[in-house]
Amino acid sequence: MPFSVIQFETKEGIATLTINRPDKLNALNDAVIEELREAVAAIETDDSIRGVIVTGAGPKAFVAGADISELATQGPLSGKDRSLAGQAVFRRLERCGKPVIAAVNGFALGGGCELAMACHFRLASENAKFGQPEVKLGIGPGYGGTVRLPRLVGKGRALELLLTGDMIDAQEAYRIGLVNRVVPADELMPQAEKLLRRILANGPIAVRLCLEAVDTGLDLSVDESSLLEANHFGLIASTEDMREGMAAFLEKRSAAFTGR
Ligand code: COA
Repeated sequence: MPFSVIQFETKEGIATLTINRPDKLNALNDAVIEELREAVAAIETDDSIRGVIVTGAGPKAFVAGADISELATQGPLSGKDRSLAGQAVFRRLERCGKPVIAAVNGFALGGGCELAMACHFRLASENAKFGQPEVKLGIGPGYGGTVRLPRLVGKGRALELLLTGDMIDAQEAYRIGLVNRVVPADELMPQAEKLLRRILANGPIAVRLCLEAVDTGLDLSVDESSLLEANHFGLIASTEDMREGMAAFLEKRSAAFTGR
């Protein structure tokens, strides 16, 4: 697939999606959003892709936000359209049915923090920095910052980040639950791949249903989300993978899941 502002590589079941504008700290312009849309469509439909790592090119930035030079000229309707387009791509990534890890290798600001939050979890290098600095530019978040940040870190901490626009380092992001782990910069990609491979060794239907149950269930009542979980539990009882997982345990061997 010919991409110019992202890189999209697949290796042994893992797609690595790299935002590739290092001279602009990987800022998300409209071209990046469009190429992300095409890459996510491929992730959704290509059965050989079982998990995804999202990262940024170069040593300095994951993504330093939406491209301010494009935002500067937008009007009310084009601004809304830009926000909806970015939100839709991030949501599709979040709902692609395959585990997605953000490997945050530097600045994750504005749209960069929002992209990382749309991934299922975040590994940060020690030099990573997070923030939603939009208010400093006189705007608000447009790619899900007000939606996902409070869900991840709670309302009080989210509002502090959103209203001050302050940046926090990787350790603080870890402390408040915005990132799952902090690792040395040279360990970031190997650790992300190692974690993803551990997940991919598990039953793929089970992994997919967990992603769906948590994402959908968080917006439901306890009774509704419990029913969804029970329905999944019943559904999975019809799979070969459940029988293989149980048999492997009882026979003291590793399971060989097939996704059936
Ligand atoms: N949009 C467009 N261009 C951006 C950008 C963004 N969000 N973030 C960085 N860049 C560009 C800079 O304009 C600069 O381009 P130039 O070399 O052509 O002048 C280049 O990337 C390098 O950035 P620079 O600011 O020189 O690096 P720095 O190390 O001094 O500062 C940051 C790094 C991240 C603190 C700073 O770039 C920054 O504050 N960026 C904007 C963050 C932001 O507000 N994001 C939310 C946008 S809604």
